[in-house]
Amino acid sequence: MVAEDKQFPQNDADDINVNREVPEVYGDSHPKELLRIIVEDGEHLLPLENQHILSADQFDQQTLLQLFRLAAKYESNPERFSTPLQGKILISAFYEPSTRTRLSFESAWHRLGGDIMSITDRSTTGIAKGESLADVGEMFNNYADCVVLRDTREESLSEMMSSLRIPIINAGNGIDEHPTQAMADLYTIFKWRPSLIKKSVPKDKKIKVGIIGVPGKMRTVKSLLKIFSIFPQMFSEIQIFENNQDADDTLINEMQKKGLNVIRAKSSFKKSVADLDVIYINAIAWVGDSFETYGSEFKLDRSVQFKKNAIILHPLARGEELSSDLDNTPYNWYFSQARGAVFVRMALLTCLVHRKGRVLDVI
Ligand code: CP
Repeated sequence: MVAEDKQFPQNDADDINVNREVPEVYGDSHPKELLRIIVEDGEHLLPLENQHILSADQFDQQTLLQLFRLAAKYESNPERFSTPLQGKILISAFYEPSTRTRLSFESAWHRLGGDIMSITDRSTTGIAKGESLADVGEMFNNYADCVVLRDTREESLSEMMSSLRIPIINAGNGIDEHPTQAMADLYTIFKWRPSLIKKSVPKDKKIKVGIIGVPGKMRTVKSLLKIFSIFPQMFSEIQIFENNQDADDTLINEMQKKGLNVIRAKSSFKKSVADLDVIYINAIAWVGDSFETYGSEFKLDRSVQFKKNAIILHPLARGEELSSDLDNTPYNWYFSQARGAVFVRMALLTCLVHRKGRVLDVI
């Protein structure tokens, strides 16, 4: 019997009407404040014209802020910029499953008027016949202006880069990194609290962040920590919740050396959450051709006592760790985080293929 199940609507006019009420998505407010706080200066975007995007730690503050300004400009004026990438071609090569990253990159490129060639299955390419990624990269030079690559292996990037003469963006390489996800995460935090952009953040305005995830296994967490290291002035404390006896402290030690107060959480999860401004949660790590789930003891739902005005971020896809009963609460900034990624990727792509001159007021 499925008659009463909402997933199987009855065939009447209300159920097939797409014009239904839009649920409130927190964080989708107009990013005008970022446009006001960050003064446009295209010079800081110049280095991107000769760079592959491999890691979240290859950026500096000014480059990221200018990218976020451009992202905010796109987000504020979605109809205004429809042709900057006209005549440019993107190869979107996803050799590992993806919903958000592939489709948001492709959406970003389409929204800016470019053309796309998409690979979603390695078995449809020469890789199935043993072709090397270096040879595939050599071919890509002839076909496109930019490559976005996701692969199960960490080494995939360096293999393809060895022959590329067009920029490549790391869209997730095994358990290594996912830099554009981290950029979208930070963009969301700045939209939530633009005052954190300031060079010096007063002590009582710094934020306390809790990260539920495994830096050594999750590329999203690793890249997030690296991008946080670029803005140490924002944080009073970063707590890592990870129940793993063999946890690798290398990255945490590096962050501490840069002056960040990063610690492994000691007190109980529920008690600590009540004191956090930003809660970042992830449970999935892609390992080889499959995924592993971590931290099943850490779950967020409406029964958890959150701090007033706290936000929850999640790179998604989610599992049981993040209950959908939080979706219609002000803590839900994870949908905004996924949406904002489109604009961040639009900004990055525009710069990588030398088209920033078409969208900046000041170059
Ligand atoms: N956040 C993220 O990487 O999602 P996908 O795996 O769907 O691309």
